[in-house]
Amino acid sequence: MKSIESQRHRFAIPDDVHYLNCAYMAPLSDGVSKAMVEGAMFKCEPWKYTPGDFFTGSERFRERAGELSGTQPDNIAIVPSASYALAIAALNCPVEQGQCIVTLAGQFPSNVYVWRDLAAERGAKVVTVMRDENSCWTDAVLDAIDQDTAIAALPHCHWADGRLVDLERVGARCREVGAALVLDLTQSLGAMPLDLGAVRPDFAVAACYKWLMGPYGIGHLYVDPRHHSGRPLEQNWINRGGSEDFTRLVDYRDDYQPGARRFDMGERSNPPLLNGAVAAFDFLLEFGIEAVAEELGSKTTAIASQAADLGLTAAPIGQRAAHFLSLGFPQGVPDGLTQRLADRNVMVSLRGRSLRVTPHLYNDERDAAALIETLRELL
Ligand SMILES: Cc1ncc(COP(=O)(O)O)c(C=O)c1O
Repeated sequence: MKSIESQRHRFAIPDDVHYLNCAYMAPLSDGVSKAMVEGAMFKCEPWKYTPGDFFTGSERFRERAGELSGTQPDNIAIVPSASYALAIAALNCPVEQGQCIVTLAGQFPSNVYVWRDLAAERGAKVVTVMRDENSCWTDAVLDAIDQDTAIAALPHCHWADGRLVDLERVGARCREVGAALVLDLTQSLGAMPLDLGAVRPDFAVAACYKWLMGPYGIGHLYVDPRHHSGRPLEQNWINRGGSEDFTRLVDYRDDYQPGARRFDMGERSNPPLLNGAVAAFDFLLEFGIEAVAEELGSKTTAIASQAADLGLTAAPIGQRAAHFLSLGFPQGVPDGLTQRLADRNVMVSLRGRSLRVTPHLYNDERDAAALIETLRELL
């Protein structure tokens, strides 16, 4: 596959800023921020914002999100956050007393607290899967899922170390034992391909502000058709049948808008967020997710091999996601490392005992060189 040239010229990143922290928060491209500003302008001129606009922007978001995830717009709900979407999943996945909910050790808290709460309410148990030091998560997860499992609540790759879960195998195992599969794809969707048709999760959410390159405060939730008659988290006016007719909103109705739309958040028709997210999806779709994943894989591999010369360790692609590099320090992480890097305009994150280095298309060799040179001086 042809490599993708640096897209830095489309971002407002100063030359001397080495931002290698997409897993923390993606910067907005100029196209995305322009779309958001244009969206915000609607509110300056509400006389131009028609009742129909409450629907068209949302449907455009659903279409583009569906294209990016390889699913129909009908299966997409508009949510404000991963935690909101996971609360919908918790409301709709049955859990009996004595059953288990499977999670990873050190999983992101939005995908843990909700299950602890549900388990406490139902007399169920949260199982925390540990992995062997030098492997991905798949075998440990497959071992943990059995007849007592009600839900496996997982990511595609771990948010701290980027290690993978083979979701196709896990999905097959969940179906075998009758467990629900709930996914938080916030650290993977947009940067790594996923075949939802092969994995067949019950619910899968991705917040937009990291690898989907979009604004904060919006995300999308894949809802499998088997849950399309499920219970929304909130009961708002626009999700009900016939809400297009503003003159009849108080002819209260029991039916909902079709598909996953019943799960949309209140005030979902928010042009700055919807337009910004659509522009961000367009940016990624311009290259295609496979090409993005391959490009990020070559960036992280180049950094890993230079870091190896400094004695730092990294899992190979296959154990880790291609876009997600986590550098280990056999002698321990030096005190104040991330601050000292930030003092030199090199932005990365410390998660657990490793340094999370997550470049994107706006990074080039100068960013990698700045990281390695600074690490060499500091170590
Ligand atoms: C794996 C993962 N999920 C979700 C989130 C964000 O959660 P929420 O949308 O609930 O704020 C993050 C943020 O770092 C994350 O890393």
